[in-house]
Amino acid sequence: MKRNLLLLAVLAALLSACQQAEGPLAVSSPDGRIKTSVFLLPDGTAAYHVAFNGQTVIDTSRLGFDFKDAPPLAAGLEMAGGARRSVDETWELPWGEQRQVRSQYNQLVVELKEQAAPGRSMRLVFRVFDDGLGFRYELPQAVSGNETIILDENTQFNLPSDPMCWWIPGDWDIYEHVYNTSRFSAIDALSKRGHPNLAQTYIPENAVNTPLTMKMDNGVYLSIHEAALIDYASMTLKVDQDRLLAQSELVGSDRLGWKVRREGPFHTPWRTIQIADRAGDLIESMLILNLNEPNKLGDVSWVKPMKYVGIWWEMHLGKSSWDYAGSQDMTSYIDPKTLRPTGRHGATTANAKRYIDFAAANGFGGLLVEGWNTGWERWIGFPDREGVFDFITPYPDYDLEEVVRYGKEKGVALIMHHETSAAPRTYDQQLDTAYQLMKRLGIHAVKTGYVGKIIPEGEYHQGQWMVNHFQRVLETAAAHQVAVDAHEGIKCTGLRRTYPNEIARETFRGQEFNAWATDGGNPTEHLTILPFTTMLAGPMDFTPGVFNLKLKPFKPANQVNTTLAHQLATYLVIYSPIQMACDLPEHYEGHEALQFIRDVGVDWEQTRVLDGEIGDFVTIAREERGTGNWFIGSLTDENARTVTVDLSFLPAGKTFDAVLYLDGPSAHWNDNPQDYRIETRQADRSTRLELTLAPGGGAAISLKAAK
Ligand code: NOJ
Ligand code: CA
Repeated sequence: MKRNLLLLAVLAALLSACQQAEGPLAVSSPDGRIKTSVFLLPDGTAAYHVAFNGQTVIDTSRLGFDFKDAPPLAAGLEMAGGARRSVDETWELPWGEQRQVRSQYNQLVVELKEQAAPGRSMRLVFRVFDDGLGFRYELPQAVSGNETIILDENTQFNLPSDPMCWWIPGDWDIYEHVYNTSRFSAIDALSKRGHPNLAQTYIPENAVNTPLTMKMDNGVYLSIHEAALIDYASMTLKVDQDRLLAQSELVGSDRLGWKVRREGPFHTPWRTIQIADRAGDLIESMLILNLNEPNKLGDVSWVKPMKYVGIWWEMHLGKSSWDYAGSQDMTSYIDPKTLRPTGRHGATTANAKRYIDFAAANGFGGLLVEGWNTGWERWIGFPDREGVFDFITPYPDYDLEEVVRYGKEKGVALIMHHETSAAPRTYDQQLDTAYQLMKRLGIHAVKTGYVGKIIPEGEYHQGQWMVNHFQRVLETAAAHQVAVDAHEGIKCTGLRRTYPNEIARETFRGQEFNAWATDGGNPTEHLTILPFTTMLAGPMDFTPGVFNLKLKPFKPANQVNTTLAHQLATYLVIYSPIQMACDLPEHYEGHEALQFIRDVGVDWEQTRVLDGEIGDFVTIAREERGTGNWFIGSLTDENARTVTVDLSFLPAGKTFDAVLYLDGPSAHWNDNPQDYRIETRQADRSTRLELTLAPGGGAAISLKAAK
């Protein structure tokens, strides 16, 4: 009898072991609130499910690939086992929105194998943190000879209900779209084709770009994005409105006819899902950085966080021109040999020195000069832009070496500018010489640009071919100790952890649109959405600081749709290690509010998102590295509101001298944007501030330790 019982027990144990291998494998976040299960569907397709606080946030979602010259990796798999690991470590950001970053997660690696021939295997790696999860595919073998050509990656994000979404269309080229707010079931990206200001948009289907941030009716926030995009195509999300299903749609190459080509074993970028029950926690989340590899560059003390000015806004306003002849007419061909200066060219030695003097007088560390090099006559609108831009040769009225020398004398570093006009092969050809020039002159930062349709035709800004171009530029720059701020570049996926010379990027609708957009400029609510969407990916070169908000006399038909205090708050709400004071020196000269831009930090010990709702308002406090000074920015959409700021995060026993830059009594983004007032007081951790924000308004506060 006893013996039989024993046998039964052994049998039962064996049975449950088998079931475990085939049934769900689960992995939870360290705090136990997020639970991810991985399992096989009846047809042998791998799937996952995510719950937060016991409620489904991602319902059963399929995983798999379609390949060229090989059968798909989807159904017919068996689970060959799972391995686990727990990690808890703290690492340091050389510059950033905080110094210390804790990376604490539980990992599950699931081994999958095809039951039938060819018996290929695939690995799924899940890392579950307290603030969300990431997972990626690993292919230990190529699927066809030594290569794998991916026609589609079919990663699903199956939503259990119809959340509110903040989305931009799944454009394969450009992320410079106004955010839309709608239920998932009402996303209609195709209606956004035909951007009024950009020719280079390609929106092939109803899809959205990431980060896609959502709020569920139970108050849970989700944001889907990706981390560590290297040698792969960027992921957009196809929208199935009826099934409430988002599915990966990789950016392709019409020229090559596929999405991704890899040789040998490889893994995909991480697919990330940030999960929070407070909107501000999405911004504080370090998930995307934690899923990137550690710093590969070592000492990057040559990457200098700083504020900068630029020969830039004056071109966007039409006060001066990028091109030497000053025509600003870049749609008709002018023979470069016939060019004569007309006095409208912005990038002259004299003008650069004027900006350097202004920067030096106000403690701004950098000067960007656009339009300094030959090629701007054939910038926008020319189908053949190959071989046009020259990244070494200045126009005759710009003495590059003298500008660098003068800047050094005054303590202002030149930021180099390379507009590629989306002709990356021309840029690639000059890469080494262009970066050697910077090295020789001691220039440690470059702003790059990719305006226009990519040449060759059939490639897109966000495809694998361009991902590899941007990576090559980043690594070449690193080898020459140059930091890169890419405009119209690849979306950010946290590579700055591995390559800390990736300082900032555009990939959103920046301030520039206010100068020339034909659709009314950035809406007033713009900056109440960007921090919760595009900024989850990384630092943004938004270029804040317009004081002449009505843009008179240059652009009477355009304006900036915020108040002046809102512009100041942007220095805290938007994070970047390089922050521009973008307006013209003459608009700052003698202006009392300039003091805030002079004072505000750019490199942070810690960041606290005090409050905020997506599309309504946001309040962020940051402690400056090295000084212990705090700065707070709060800004609102088109609605006025009162925001309470509780300063209990300040250190005990310290009193601060607070300067508050507030909306004036009649401030209004449209009716009276310049109205502001300054208040000074003392503050400590017991202080509570009631800030009244005007429609489209804001508040900016500096807190310096009292002497
Ligand atoms: C677009 C960039 O976003 C802008 O900042 C720059 O001035 C122009 N391209 C010219 O390169
Ligand atoms: Ca741009």
